[in-house]
Amino acid sequence: MNKQETKTRDKRIRTGSIALRIALGSALYLLLAFVIVDLVVLWIEARPQIAFDPVLDPHGKELAVTLFTVCKEIVTGGRFLLLLQIEGVVILIKLVLDLLRVRAQLKPLDEIAQAAMDLSNIDVSSDDRFAKLETAIDRLSPADEGEVLSTGDAELEGLEGAVNNMIGRMRDAYKQQARFVSDASHELRTPIAVIKGYADMLDRWGKEDESILEESIAAIKTESDNMQHLVEQLLFLARGDSGRTPVEKADFSLTDMMKEACSESAMIDEQHSYRLDAAEDVQAYGDVSLLKQTARILIENAKKYSPEGTEIVLGVKMKDGRPCFSVEDSGIGMDREAQAHIFERFYRADDSRARSSGGTGLGLAIAKWIVDRHGGRFEVVSRKDIGTRISVIL
Ligand SMILES: Nc1ncnc2c1ncn2[C@@H]1O[C@H](COP(=O)(O)OP(=O)(O)OP(=O)(O)O)[C@@H](O)[C@H]1O
Ligand SMILES: [Mg+2]
Repeated sequence: MNKQETKTRDKRIRTGSIALRIALGSALYLLLAFVIVDLVVLWIEARPQIAFDPVLDPHGKELAVTLFTVCKEIVTGGRFLLLLQIEGVVILIKLVLDLLRVRAQLKPLDEIAQAAMDLSNIDVSSDDRFAKLETAIDRLSPADEGEVLSTGDAELEGLEGAVNNMIGRMRDAYKQQARFVSDASHELRTPIAVIKGYADMLDRWGKEDESILEESIAAIKTESDNMQHLVEQLLFLARGDSGRTPVEKADFSLTDMMKEACSESAMIDEQHSYRLDAAEDVQAYGDVSLLKQTARILIENAKKYSPEGTEIVLGVKMKDGRPCFSVEDSGIGMDREAQAHIFERFYRADDSRARSSGGTGLGLAIAKWIVDRHGGRFEVVSRKDIGTRISVIL
């Protein structure tokens, strides 16, 4: 019998026993009502016999005898006795049913107790299957993809499958982490090498040559800024991965958030014109400072990957009942292949161009981390040499 059939059978049994219990319960209360009505009727019928004359019967002896006779008649009377007998049978059936129900409810507990007892009786040290399993787990290496846990014991197959699944997931995370560390070190090496190169140049010729002095100072400044930006991005992702970045959600106006982002960008960047295309007061729920950081990352990209003098449009609207914001540029755009990877850490569509513009390939990975924490998604529309629009739907 499969799981579904067992469930249906259990449901039917449960429904049947509930119906039976309701029927018996109702019968019991009905009989109880009959007994009470019967008692009242019998008492009323017997009342005329109960007469008390304090002169003829000063001690109430006559009265006591009459009362006893009346009660005896009521109790031993055929109709009342029959009702009591029926009620007794109904009570008995109900008692048996309740007992069975309690035993059925306690059955799983009994089974758990039995299983625990069986487990405690297993002697792990003398069972060589456990020793084999332990040795096989010890031999596994965290990095070797091809290695799986296998003892060849059919009884351990299920357990091995579960352990292998878990090891697979751990290896994926390990690989991802190792790649992240190696990419991060590689990215840090470049600005350090540049700074060291200029420092050496300064040391040799910079003291006398004014032009070398200025060039070196400018380059060292730019590279240290890039390095600071990279380190901040790495710290954000590392904190995010270890769950140390708090996400404090509240209701806020998405329109106001994008209005502020628009005026800030227009003030900082004079090479592009900024326009806000916003619906009136779109409300959202989320961490406003993290979402504003996302908008800034998108604006930074629009700015970096579109020529001077072009327009950048910031949009806010409701899309399919969800709050949505977007950044659109008329820049270099991307092909489909690149669009599939832009949210990966350290990915740059056009490596040399992005690198020369100071890109590390972490901006959109950070944006994705933030949007994921809000249960939102991205929508990317881009055409090479025409432009890009990236929307966030919350
Ligand atoms: N608006 C855009 N137009 C064209 N290409 C874009 C745009 N936005 C992103 N890209 C491409 O996606 C890549 C990844 O973007 P991301 O913001 O993650 O990194 P970045 O801009 O290179 O560096 P940074 O970490 O400094 O933001 C970019 O290198 C670029 O090739
Ligand atoms: Mg970027």
